[in-house]
Amino acid sequence: MTSITINSNHSLTGQCSIPGDKSISHRAVMFGSIAEGKTTITNFLDGHDCRATVGVMRDLGVEIDVLNPTELIVHGRGLDGLQEPNSVLDCANSGTTMRLMTGLLAGQRFPTFLNGTAQIRRRPMGRIVNPLRGMGADIMGRQNGNYAPLGIRPAQLRGVEYDMPVASAQVKSCLLLAGMYARGLTLVREPGPTRDHTERMLQAMGAPIEVIGNSIHSERPSSPLRGIEIGVAGDISSAAFLLVAGSIIPDSRLLITGVGVNPTRVGIIDALQEMGAQIEYRNARVQAGEPVADLEVRYGELRGTTFGGSTIVTMIDELMVLAVAATQAHGRTIVRDAGELRVKETDRIATTVTELRKMGAKIEPTSDGFIIDGPTELRGAPVESQGDHRLAMAMTIAGLVAKGQTTVFGSEVTADSFPGFEVTLQALGGDLTVEA
Ligand code: S3P
Repeated sequence: MTSITINSNHSLTGQCSIPGDKSISHRAVMFGSIAEGKTTITNFLDGHDCRATVGVMRDLGVEIDVLNPTELIVHGRGLDGLQEPNSVLDCANSGTTMRLMTGLLAGQRFPTFLNGTAQIRRRPMGRIVNPLRGMGADIMGRQNGNYAPLGIRPAQLRGVEYDMPVASAQVKSCLLLAGMYARGLTLVREPGPTRDHTERMLQAMGAPIEVIGNSIHSERPSSPLRGIEIGVAGDISSAAFLLVAGSIIPDSRLLITGVGVNPTRVGIIDALQEMGAQIEYRNARVQAGEPVADLEVRYGELRGTTFGGSTIVTMIDELMVLAVAATQAHGRTIVRDAGELRVKETDRIATTVTELRKMGAKIEPTSDGFIIDGPTELRGAPVESQGDHRLAMAMTIAGLVAKGQTTVFGSEVTADSFPGFEVTLQALGGDLTVEA
């Protein structure tokens, strides 16, 4: 177990890049595996979660060359080229791996078993298992398929029309992948726009994925998917920690280069700007079919704001660090319609409230979000990651703005999604040390 100790609150200044996007990295390996020919991936996220996807695809017979930790070549085996694995597929702590792979494997000719950490065995899988069963999939799991481990028997799938009750890109992607192995058309309707990396990448590979308003169609491709070159955009979910730090630590000024700014992901930028943050887009461009920009952030006063509705899904992974920003904002910040936070790596409403209160934050949990009154001068304190990477990083940012020393215990989980998090902050002037 490692810990991060933050000593005093220096301003953060300078330029940095951030590791590749987690969602795009997972998809690049998975879709590259079922394409024909080579998929070359650069700026791959070398985090624990994406490594789990590489391990799973290798167990399914896919050859993957790791040229260096962030450059991979996936030798695609085609839609029907995956092989029966010798053992249980280990999804580690990665919900994206487990949910997307279940969709990809539901229509294969061989059985598979998926498992992972104790944390992932507590996360709901009924949201994918039930609609997959509606397509004819033969899946079992604990509590009638609600929880992993999951076992999948070979089955002939048929296309369905499915109205998603929760706005989830993982559920959508799972069903679109299953749809490519089904007879007939699969149509998924989403209640609000969720991240669309699956649609963009599969289309770039030549898959017949069609988007009409809020419904997305998938069917068996009539010709093979083509391997492509994918330069993964920087992860806005990781940039969010720096955007908040730059906004709330006096005299800070940062330039974060190469950040993915897909419209389905920029909720955190919109939210911080609405609170009064000084964030500007520079050098907007398109990289591997995804919008990318450099983001400049400067310290500025924030005001409390209310967030809810369909924008929540566009910043679902950033709400914990938004809570840290809210402790420094003038007035009340309310986050509602974010009940999904309760079924992430941890119950993120409960864990954020527990840990931020240790530093003196005025934060109240609600059934579907939290209410924060500010500004509060946070006091340094010993806090816990609770095994949640984004909580560990959010608390580190809180420590950077607090008076006195903060220690974040269990900080090794930052590498699930942001390897180099601590070093990046140190290079920008953050006064922190890491102890093993
Ligand atoms: C992800 C979708 C989101 C997000 C997760 C990654 C993806 O989950 O929270 O970190 O890559 O599709 P949900 O689909 O459960 O909202």
